[in-house]
Amino acid sequence: MMPYLWGIYREQQHSPGREFDDAEILRLVAKHVEAAGYQVHLKTPEQLGAAYDPSTGRRPDPLPSLVFLMCERAETLSSLEPIEMQAIPHVNPLQAVLNTYRDRMIPLLAASAIPIPRSQIISSNSSDPGHPSPQLPTGPFPIWIKRADVHNTQSGDVELVSSPEDLRVALVALHGRGISHVVLQQHIPGDLLKFYGIGKPLASNRKDTWFKWFYHRDQELARYPFSEEALQTIAQRAASAVGLEVYGGDAIITPTGEFFLIDINAWPSFALFREEAAPQIATWLLRRLRQGALL
Ligand SMILES: Nc1ncnc2c1ncn2[C@@H]1O[C@H](COP(=O)(O)OP(=O)(O)OP(=O)(O)O)[C@@H](O)[C@H]1O
Ligand SMILES: [Mg+2]
Repeated sequence: MMPYLWGIYREQQHSPGREFDDAEILRLVAKHVEAAGYQVHLKTPEQLGAAYDPSTGRRPDPLPSLVFLMCERAETLSSLEPIEMQAIPHVNPLQAVLNTYRDRMIPLLAASAIPIPRSQIISSNSSDPGHPSPQLPTGPFPIWIKRADVHNTQSGDVELVSSPEDLRVALVALHGRGISHVVLQQHIPGDLLKFYGIGKPLASNRKDTWFKWFYHRDQELARYPFSEEALQTIAQRAASAVGLEVYGGDAIITPTGEFFLIDINAWPSFALFREEAAPQIATWLLRRLRQGALL
């Protein structure tokens, strides 16, 4: 049988307001891969789960030669684990996607000396009078509070709070939703940039990688000067620290030209650059297919 690939959509709950853009980039990449002569099966995370449900006794389809994925829930990723264990390349690697959960991402970025805002991971019941916490900051405010696991899935997951009282309210709300840990993070004023990247520049020639940045809309831009080269280097080092090959993220450039990396995500929607990014991603997938699981 002709080698074929699986493409896995993002979970709907993880694409708030971006359902179309997220699905579209996956479909467009699939088209480019098919145009190169391969078959692609696109699956939702639910379809993936069904193929592996031991209670149904259903056998999965023949094993794919490569899996490309936008899913990010731990359950979905663990259903792919047996396949990745058989040395079938996954883009992004399952571990890399898990590494974007904030409670892993922050220590990994810090360990690689990526400039990130001062951050602290604490239990969400720290505002409980029964569990008085010496960890709760008393200032300076404002401060960011973010759920420590997955990225923004609904409002309240990531919030800028301006007083100890607001911080307590936000903590209680997150705790009430069953979110056990939160990140408290220094607020960095400056221009917000978004970036997208494809490839593993540290493992290959830089010319084989693709990188774009743009200013986030809806902000009053000061246009602080900065080095694009430095931005690209920081973004690529961050991607490599978590193991991502198809990624996007946010960075802030301060009035003094310093960068802070705020966030790095697995396989974003590439919305503004979809047409340009899709063939680049497809080329990367085919390269990974030739190279096997290990790069
Ligand atoms: N420490 C910070 N300093 C300044 N701005 C921040 C900081 N943290 C977050 N922000 C702002 O909030 C936005 C969302 O934060 P973050 O990227 O960490 O969350 P997210 O869950 O990925 O949300 P989204 O999906 O909206 O990007 C950032 O793009 C940035 O504008
Ligand atoms: Mg973000």
